[in-house]
Amino acid sequence: MLPRRRRARVGSPGAAAPSAARFPGVAIYLAEPRMGRSRRAFLTRLALSKGFCVLDAYSPEVTHVVMEQTSAEEAICWQERMAMAPPPGCTHPALLDISWFTESMAAGQPVPVECRHRLEVAVPRKGLPSPVWMLPYACQRPTPLTHHNTSLSEALETLAEAAGFEGSEGRFLAFCRAASVLKALPSPITALSQLQALPHFGEHSCRVVQELLEHGVCEEVETVRLSERYQTMKLFTQIFGVGVKTADRWYREGLRTLEDLQEQPQRLTQQQKAGLQHHQDLGALVQRPDVEALQQVVEAAVGQALPGATVTLAGGFRRASGEHGPRSQTGPLRGKLQGHDVDFLITHPQEGREAGLLPRVMCCLKKQGLVLYHQYSRREDPSHLTQQSHTMDAFERSFCIFRLPQPPGAAVGGPRWPCPAWKAVRVDLVVAPISQFPFALLGWTGSKHFERELRRFSWKERGLRLSSHGLFDPEQKTFFHAASEEDIFRHLSLEYLPPEQRNA
Ligand code: UTP
Ligand code: MN
Repeated sequence: MLPRRRRARVGSPGAAAPSAARFPGVAIYLAEPRMGRSRRAFLTRLALSKGFCVLDAYSPEVTHVVMEQTSAEEAICWQERMAMAPPPGCTHPALLDISWFTESMAAGQPVPVECRHRLEVAVPRKGLPSPVWMLPYACQRPTPLTHHNTSLSEALETLAEAAGFEGSEGRFLAFCRAASVLKALPSPITALSQLQALPHFGEHSCRVVQELLEHGVCEEVETVRLSERYQTMKLFTQIFGVGVKTADRWYREGLRTLEDLQEQPQRLTQQQKAGLQHHQDLGALVQRPDVEALQQVVEAAVGQALPGATVTLAGGFRRASGEHGPRSQTGPLRGKLQGHDVDFLITHPQEGREAGLLPRVMCCLKKQGLVLYHQYSRREDPSHLTQQSHTMDAFERSFCIFRLPQPPGAAVGGPRWPCPAWKAVRVDLVVAPISQFPFALLGWTGSKHFERELRRFSWKERGLRLSSHGLFDPEQKTFFHAASEEDIFRHLSLEYLPPEQRNA
């Protein structure tokens, strides 16, 4: 199938490499933020028709970056955010104003770059910290695990969480987006003026930051944190199998503590009962060595159930590509050293062989006494394929609580000290056919906000429906084939972000 939208490198058919264009040494990248999608498409067609090479994705091959209505400072920020070191011997591409592009189009050939075309000549300002510029979608910018504005982002995330508890989706998203912007900043916010040019900073989020900068605390955030409502909702929603709706109903019925719930077992599903029973263990964060141990037992069971099937760690614990082997503990991960659960994706290189695999894997794990609870699920209706659905995909999957043996001496001083023989750990096992695997991996790597933004970007900016199953073009009614996550980013004309930069 030929995707309707542009491939990574747009050009006349057969114009595969920049050198094949009429003007070797000139590879243009049109930076979209202030240009807009349709104008960018128009300018791209124009340049292609005149024999220019236009690259759809920002890469080390780019020689001329063209921007519109962009200040020198913004341009440099943009480039820094792209964080792409040029290969040895190459220089950074020129950052140019649209005037260079229009003059070149008029001349029918690239005009020499003059000072007045360049965006990088501004003298850095000293004194007051200058406003920072940032792309609006979290999937357009790298977000590392540790950043420079933790107390500010945590305050905004508390307000987001509280809004979520009240069912205020709009406020929830607004605070999430503002918090996420702070996580992507290259330095700490020290003055309110720095927020000026940032996207998603409404009046409310600005006020919270202002209070924190001036007083070190924000009254609203503190009030929320101490409120019975927030604390109870947090306690209940942390139980395996309890969502906001259930927690809210219990709260309105006057329930406040775990003991209250335990006294009314008839209210609880099997899943919630298991969640309560292992609440203490599940509340403690999963550590890296637990993940290694789990991967070994899951790999063994999967290998036994279907030779050739593979197990990939997803979620917050995902390893960076290139870091092989379950025993390596130091390389860059999506970053997390601790998490609330462990997510594994299972597939087989031959399409279809993975069907029906999960029950056999579970059977094998159960025989070894490793499973305290599990719930198999598979959604049958096929609407997931063409809808973008954030949390509900239709893969064959198992939500489990594993009984993970602990090495002697582990968790000294912990809940069952001196001798914790095992601990309960939440594990999700998900089976994806190989054709959908890159989408499943992208969807299950997170963070949740990153995924939400990626789907929103796909739809709003590209008109495509992204889910963990695929990328669907509703106009053409076609699916895009992808062999890797990189393929998906390319098809969306997004710079590739490795897992460790998806901590939005
Ligand atoms: P998690 O909730 O496991 O988050 O979802 P995490 O980033 O690993 O962090 P922890 O576990 O809280 O420490 C991982 C990814 O899987 C997707 C989420 O959207 C997230 O991107 N996911 C999770 C689904 O697509 N469907 C689900 O049912 C659950
Ligand atoms: Mn997880």
